[in-house]
Amino acid sequence: MRLRSLLFIPGDSEKKFAKGSAAGADVLILDLEDAVAPSRKIEARAIVSRLLEDRTPRSWSFFVRVNPLDTGMTFTDMAAVVKPGLDGLLIPKANGAQDINRIAEELDRLEQQAGMALGTVKIAVVATETPIAMFNLGSYTPAHPRLVGLTWGAEDLAAAIGATANKEEDGSWTEPYRLARSLCLYAAAAADVAPIDTLYANFRDPEGLELDCRRARRDGFTGRIAIHPDQVATINRCFAPSPEEIAEAQMIVDAFAAQPDAGTLGINGKMYDIPHLKAAQKTLANAA
Ligand code: COA
Ligand code: MG
Repeated sequence: MRLRSLLFIPGDSEKKFAKGSAAGADVLILDLEDAVAPSRKIEARAIVSRLLEDRTPRSWSFFVRVNPLDTGMTFTDMAAVVKPGLDGLLIPKANGAQDINRIAEELDRLEQQAGMALGTVKIAVVATETPIAMFNLGSYTPAHPRLVGLTWGAEDLAAAIGATANKEEDGSWTEPYRLARSLCLYAAAAADVAPIDTLYANFRDPEGLELDCRRARRDGFTGRIAIHPDQVATINRCFAPSPEEIAEAQMIVDAFAAQPDAGTLGINGKMYDIPHLKAAQKTLANAA
Protein backbone atom coordinates (compact mmCIF):
# COMPACT_ATOMS: atom_id res chain seq x y z
CA MET A 1 0.00 0.00 0.00
CA ARG A 2 1.50 3.30 -1.10
CA LEU A 3 1.25 6.15 1.43
CA ARG A 4 2.89 9.12 -0.28
CA SER A 5 -0.11 11.44 -0.66
CA LEU A 6 -3.19 11.11 1.54
CA LEU A 7 -6.01 13.49 0.59
CA PHE A 8 -8.67 14.44 3.12
CA ILE A 9 -12.25 14.74 1.93
CA PRO A 10 -15.13 15.78 4.19
CA GLY A 11 -17.29 12.66 4.51
CA ASP A 12 -20.51 14.51 3.82
CA SER A 13 -19.43 15.92 0.43
CA GLU A 14 -20.07 13.68 -2.56
CA LYS A 15 -19.02 16.54 -4.81
CA LYS A 16 -15.57 16.69 -3.23
CA PHE A 17 -15.33 12.91 -3.35
CA ALA A 18 -15.87 12.99 -7.11
CA LYS A 19 -13.21 15.67 -7.47
CA GLY A 20 -10.82 14.02 -5.02
CA SER A 21 -10.93 10.58 -6.60
CA ALA A 22 -9.40 12.07 -9.77
CA ALA A 23 -6.64 13.96 -7.93
CA GLY A 24 -3.98 11.25 -8.21
CA ALA A 25 -3.64 10.66 -4.46
CA ASP A 26 -2.45 7.31 -3.10
CA VAL A 27 -5.08 7.42 -0.38
CA LEU A 28 -8.38 9.25 0.03
CA ILE A 29 -9.33 9.80 3.66
CA LEU A 30 -13.05 10.30 3.97
CA ASP A 31 -13.43 12.29 7.16
CA LEU A 32 -16.13 11.66 9.72
CA GLU A 33 -14.38 13.72 12.41
CA ASP A 34 -13.69 17.44 12.47
CA ALA A 35 -14.50 18.26 8.84
CA VAL A 36 -18.08 17.16 9.52
CA ALA A 37 -20.39 19.26 11.71
CA PRO A 38 -22.12 17.39 14.56
CA SER A 39 -25.47 17.88 12.82
CA ARG A 40 -24.11 16.08 9.71
CA LYS A 41 -22.47 13.02 11.31
CA ILE A 42 -25.32 10.61 10.59
CA GLU A 43 -25.62 11.79 7.00
CA ALA A 44 -21.82 11.56 6.51
CA ARG A 45 -21.75 7.95 7.76
CA ALA A 46 -24.50 7.04 5.30
CA ILE A 47 -22.73 8.77 2.40
CA VAL A 48 -19.36 7.13 3.08
CA SER A 49 -21.02 3.75 3.53
CA ARG A 50 -22.66 4.17 0.12
CA LEU A 51 -19.45 5.34 -1.57
CA LEU A 52 -17.70 2.18 -0.36
CA GLU A 53 -20.16 0.08 -2.34
CA ASP A 54 -18.94 1.45 -5.68
CA ARG A 55 -17.04 -1.46 -7.27
CA THR A 56 -15.34 0.61 -10.00
CA PRO A 57 -11.61 -0.31 -9.91
CA ARG A 58 -9.62 2.30 -7.98
CA SER A 59 -6.03 3.45 -8.19
CA TRP A 60 -6.10 4.64 -4.57
CA SER A 61 -6.77 3.22 -1.11
CA PHE A 62 -10.02 4.07 0.66
CA PHE A 63 -9.48 5.25 4.25
CA VAL A 64 -11.95 6.70 6.72
CA ARG A 65 -11.07 8.96 9.63
CA VAL A 66 -13.41 7.97 12.44
CA ASN A 67 -14.23 10.06 15.48
CA PRO A 68 -11.91 9.61 18.47
CA LEU A 69 -12.64 7.09 21.22
CA ASP A 70 -13.54 9.71 23.85
CA THR A 71 -16.51 10.90 21.76
CA GLY A 72 -18.28 7.57 22.05
CA MET A 73 -18.87 7.67 18.27
CA THR A 74 -15.94 5.55 17.08
CA PHE A 75 -17.68 2.17 17.06
CA THR A 76 -20.83 3.62 15.46
CA ASP A 77 -18.63 5.07 12.69
CA MET A 78 -16.89 1.72 12.30
CA ALA A 79 -20.16 -0.21 12.13
CA ALA A 80 -21.16 1.98 9.16
CA VAL A 81 -17.91 1.77 7.19
CA VAL A 82 -16.21 -1.57 7.91
CA LYS A 83 -17.36 -3.37 4.78
CA PRO A 84 -15.76 -4.62 1.57
CA GLY A 85 -14.04 -1.71 -0.15
CA LEU A 86 -12.55 -0.22 3.02
CA ASP A 87 -8.75 -0.32 3.08
CA GLY A 88 -7.97 1.52 6.26
CA LEU A 89 -8.96 3.68 9.20
CA LEU A 90 -7.21 6.83 10.39
CA ILE A 91 -7.49 7.16 14.16
CA PRO A 92 -7.37 10.73 15.48
CA LYS A 93 -6.53 11.84 19.04
CA ALA A 94 -5.15 8.41 19.92
CA ASN A 95 -3.47 8.30 23.31
CA GLY A 96 -1.24 5.33 22.48
CA ALA A 97 -1.15 1.73 21.31
CA GLN A 98 -3.83 0.68 23.83
CA ASP A 99 -6.37 2.70 21.84
CA ILE A 100 -5.24 0.98 18.66
CA ASN A 101 -5.61 -2.44 20.25
CA ARG A 102 -9.22 -1.63 21.21
CA ILE A 103 -10.00 -0.52 17.68
CA ALA A 104 -8.23 -3.54 16.19
CA GLU A 105 -10.32 -5.90 18.34
CA GLU A 106 -13.49 -4.24 17.11
CA LEU A 107 -12.15 -4.56 13.55
CA ASP A 108 -11.63 -8.31 14.07
CA ARG A 109 -15.31 -8.58 14.98
CA LEU A 110 -16.65 -6.33 12.23
CA GLU A 111 -14.53 -7.86 9.47
CA GLN A 112 -15.80 -11.30 10.36
CA GLN A 113 -19.38 -10.02 10.38
CA ALA A 114 -18.85 -8.38 6.95
CA GLY A 115 -17.26 -11.50 5.47
CA MET A 116 -13.91 -9.77 5.00
CA ALA A 117 -10.54 -11.49 5.41
CA LEU A 118 -9.15 -10.86 8.89
CA GLY A 119 -6.65 -7.98 8.81
CA THR A 120 -7.91 -6.39 5.58
CA VAL A 121 -8.48 -3.00 7.18
CA LYS A 122 -5.20 -1.27 8.04
CA ILE A 123 -4.72 1.43 10.66
CA ALA A 124 -2.92 4.77 10.50
CA VAL A 125 -2.76 6.97 13.56
CA VAL A 126 -2.62 10.69 14.27
CA ALA A 127 -0.22 10.06 17.10
CA THR A 128 0.45 13.46 18.73
CA GLU A 129 -2.91 15.15 19.27
CA THR A 130 -3.21 14.75 23.04
CA PRO A 131 -0.61 15.62 25.70
CA ILE A 132 -0.43 12.05 27.05
CA ALA A 133 0.04 10.72 23.50
CA MET A 134 3.42 12.47 23.46
CA PHE A 135 4.62 10.13 26.24
CA ASN A 136 3.23 7.01 24.59
CA LEU A 137 4.81 7.26 21.15
CA GLY A 138 7.10 4.34 22.00
CA SER A 139 4.06 2.16 22.66
CA TYR A 140 3.50 1.67 18.90
CA THR A 141 6.57 -0.59 18.91
CA PRO A 142 6.32 -3.50 18.31
CA ALA A 143 3.74 -2.50 15.74
CA HIS A 144 0.27 -4.01 15.64
CA PRO A 145 0.03 -6.05 12.42
CA ARG A 146 -2.63 -3.66 11.10
CA LEU A 147 -0.55 -0.52 11.70
CA VAL A 148 0.79 1.03 8.48
CA GLY A 149 1.63 4.62 9.34
CA LEU A 150 1.92 7.35 11.96
CA THR A 151 1.23 11.00 11.38
CA TRP A 152 1.08 13.99 13.67
CA GLY A 153 -1.07 17.05 14.16
CA ALA A 154 -0.43 20.42 15.73
CA GLU A 155 -3.88 22.00 15.93
CA ASP A 156 -5.54 19.74 18.48
CA LEU A 157 -2.33 19.49 20.50
CA ALA A 158 -2.12 23.30 20.67
CA ALA A 159 -5.72 23.49 21.84
CA ALA A 160 -5.09 20.78 24.44
CA ILE A 161 -2.12 22.52 26.01
CA GLY A 162 -3.64 26.01 25.82
CA ALA A 163 -1.10 27.46 23.40
CA THR A 164 -2.00 30.81 21.86
CA ALA A 165 -0.08 29.97 18.66
CA ASN A 166 1.85 27.04 17.22
CA LYS A 167 3.87 28.90 14.57
CA GLU A 168 6.70 31.42 14.76
CA GLU A 169 6.33 34.69 12.88
CA ASP A 170 8.26 33.19 9.94
CA GLY A 171 5.72 30.36 9.69
CA SER A 172 7.90 27.62 11.20
CA TRP A 173 6.59 25.42 14.04
CA THR A 174 7.30 26.50 17.60
CA GLU A 175 9.28 24.14 19.82
CA PRO A 176 6.41 22.01 21.23
CA TYR A 177 5.33 21.05 17.68
CA ARG A 178 8.85 20.54 16.35
CA LEU A 179 9.19 18.04 19.18
CA ALA A 180 5.91 16.35 18.24
CA ARG A 181 6.99 16.13 14.60
CA SER A 182 10.39 14.65 15.47
CA LEU A 183 9.02 12.15 17.96
CA CYS A 184 6.41 11.01 15.45
CA LEU A 185 9.22 10.39 12.98
CA TYR A 186 11.20 8.33 15.51
CA ALA A 187 8.10 6.43 16.61
CA ALA A 188 7.28 5.47 13.03
CA ALA A 189 10.87 4.46 12.29
CA ALA A 190 11.00 2.36 15.47
CA ALA A 191 7.73 0.64 14.58
CA ASP A 192 8.84 0.26 10.95
CA VAL A 193 5.71 1.94 9.60
CA ALA A 194 5.38 4.96 7.31
CA PRO A 195 6.15 8.38 8.82
CA ILE A 196 3.58 10.73 7.29
CA ASP A 197 4.03 14.47 7.66
CA THR A 198 1.15 16.67 8.71
CA LEU A 199 -0.85 18.91 6.40
CA TYR A 200 0.32 22.19 4.88
CA ALA A 201 -2.58 24.48 5.64
CA ASN A 202 -2.14 27.15 2.94
CA PHE A 203 -3.46 25.33 -0.12
CA ARG A 204 -2.80 28.33 -2.34
CA ASP A 205 0.99 28.29 -1.75
CA PRO A 206 2.51 25.61 -4.02
CA GLU A 207 6.08 26.94 -3.59
CA GLY A 208 5.82 26.88 0.19
CA LEU A 209 4.36 23.37 0.06
CA GLU A 210 7.16 22.20 -2.21
CA LEU A 211 9.88 23.59 0.08
CA ASP A 212 8.24 22.09 3.14
CA CYS A 213 7.83 18.68 1.46
CA ARG A 214 11.51 18.65 0.52
CA ARG A 215 12.44 19.33 4.14
CA ALA A 216 10.09 16.57 5.28
CA ARG A 217 11.58 14.04 2.92
CA ARG A 218 15.11 15.09 3.84
CA ASP A 219 14.22 14.37 7.48
CA GLY A 220 12.81 10.91 6.71
CA PHE A 221 9.09 11.36 6.15
CA THR A 222 7.86 9.24 3.25
CA GLY A 223 4.52 10.94 2.61
CA ARG A 224 2.21 13.73 3.57
CA ILE A 225 -1.39 14.64 4.26
CA ALA A 226 -3.15 16.82 1.63
CA ILE A 227 -6.27 18.88 2.27
CA HIS A 228 -6.83 20.13 -1.28
CA PRO A 229 -6.55 18.31 -4.65
CA ASP A 230 -4.11 20.97 -5.86
CA GLN A 231 -1.56 19.78 -3.28
CA VAL A 232 -1.44 16.17 -4.44
CA ALA A 233 0.84 16.44 -7.47
CA THR A 234 3.45 18.42 -5.52
CA ILE A 235 3.41 15.90 -2.69
CA ASN A 236 3.71 12.94 -5.07
CA ARG A 237 6.61 14.54 -6.86
CA CYS A 238 8.50 15.59 -3.74
CA PHE A 239 8.26 12.21 -2.00
CA ALA A 240 9.17 10.15 -5.05
CA PRO A 241 12.93 9.50 -5.23
CA SER A 242 14.50 11.35 -8.18
CA PRO A 243 16.15 9.35 -11.02
CA GLU A 244 19.55 10.47 -9.67
CA GLU A 245 18.72 9.22 -6.18
CA ILE A 246 17.51 5.89 -7.56
CA ALA A 247 20.65 5.50 -9.67
CA GLU A 248 22.91 6.25 -6.69
CA ALA A 249 20.98 3.86 -4.45
CA GLN A 250 21.22 1.10 -7.06
CA MET A 251 24.95 1.73 -7.38
CA ILE A 252 25.42 1.35 -3.60
CA VAL A 253 23.29 -1.81 -3.39
CA ASP A 254 25.12 -3.34 -6.37
CA ALA A 255 28.52 -2.49 -4.89
CA PHE A 256 27.72 -4.20 -1.59
CA ALA A 257 26.16 -7.18 -3.39
CA ALA A 258 29.40 -7.58 -5.37
CA GLN A 259 31.42 -7.69 -2.13
CA PRO A 260 29.21 -9.49 0.39
CA ASP A 261 31.93 -9.62 3.07
CA ALA A 262 32.65 -5.88 3.04
CA GLY A 263 31.22 -3.67 5.78
CA THR A 264 32.72 -0.52 4.28
CA LEU A 265 33.38 0.38 0.66
CA GLY A 266 35.06 3.27 -1.10
CA ILE A 267 33.20 4.27 -4.26
CA ASN A 268 34.42 7.23 -6.33
CA GLY A 269 36.38 8.58 -3.37
CA LYS A 270 33.47 8.39 -0.90
CA MET A 271 33.06 6.08 2.08
CA TYR A 272 29.95 3.92 2.24
CA ASP A 273 29.02 1.62 5.14
CA ILE A 274 25.99 -0.30 6.36
CA PRO A 275 23.78 2.75 7.18
CA HIS A 276 24.29 3.94 3.59
CA LEU A 277 23.31 0.51 2.33
CA LYS A 278 20.13 0.53 4.45
CA ALA A 279 19.24 4.02 3.24
CA ALA A 280 19.82 2.94 -0.37
CA GLN A 281 17.60 -0.12 0.12
CA LYS A 282 14.86 2.14 1.54
CA THR A 283 15.14 4.49 -1.44
CA LEU A 284 14.72 1.58 -3.86
CA ALA A 285 11.76 0.25 -1.87
CA ASN A 286 10.12 3.70 -2.00
CA ALA A 287 10.75 3.91 -5.72
CA ALA A 288 9.22 0.50 -6.41
N1 COA B 1 -11.16 17.06 -1.75
C1 COA B 1 -11.84 17.07 -2.91
N2 COA B 1 -12.20 18.20 -3.56
C2 COA B 1 -11.86 19.36 -2.99
C3 COA B 1 -11.16 19.41 -1.78
C4 COA B 1 -10.81 18.20 -1.15
N3 COA B 1 -10.14 18.16 0.00
N4 COA B 1 -10.93 20.69 -1.47
C5 COA B 1 -11.47 21.43 -2.45
N5 COA B 1 -12.05 20.63 -3.36
C6 COA B 1 -12.73 21.03 -4.60
C7 COA B 1 -13.79 22.08 -4.32
O1 COA B 1 -15.01 21.46 -4.00
C8 COA B 1 -13.84 22.83 -5.63
O2 COA B 1 -14.60 22.05 -6.53
P1 COA B 1 -15.37 22.75 -7.77
O3 COA B 1 -14.33 23.31 -8.66
O4 COA B 1 -16.15 21.62 -8.38
O5 COA B 1 -16.25 23.78 -7.14
C9 COA B 1 -12.39 22.79 -6.10
O6 COA B 1 -11.80 21.68 -5.42
C10 COA B 1 -11.64 24.04 -5.76
O7 COA B 1 -11.76 24.29 -4.38
P2 COA B 1 -11.40 25.70 -3.76
O8 COA B 1 -12.40 26.71 -4.13
O9 COA B 1 -9.98 25.98 -4.10
O10 COA B 1 -11.46 25.43 -2.21
P3 COA B 1 -12.77 25.51 -1.28
O11 COA B 1 -12.85 26.88 -0.70
O12 COA B 1 -13.95 24.98 -2.01
O13 COA B 1 -12.42 24.48 -0.13
C11 COA B 1 -11.54 23.68 1.93
C12 COA B 1 -11.46 24.75 0.87
C13 COA B 1 -10.43 23.87 2.91
C14 COA B 1 -12.91 23.80 2.63
C15 COA B 1 -11.43 22.30 1.22
O14 COA B 1 -10.19 22.26 0.58
C16 COA B 1 -11.60 21.10 2.12
O15 COA B 1 -12.72 20.70 2.40
N6 COA B 1 -10.48 20.43 2.51
C17 COA B 1 -10.51 19.25 3.31
C18 COA B 1 -10.84 19.61 4.74
C19 COA B 1 -10.76 18.39 5.63
O16 COA B 1 -11.19 17.31 5.28
N7 COA B 1 -10.20 18.58 6.82
C20 COA B 1 -10.04 17.53 7.76
C21 COA B 1 -8.62 17.17 7.97
S1 COA B 1 -7.63 18.49 8.54
MG1 MG C 1 -7.92 17.48 14.25
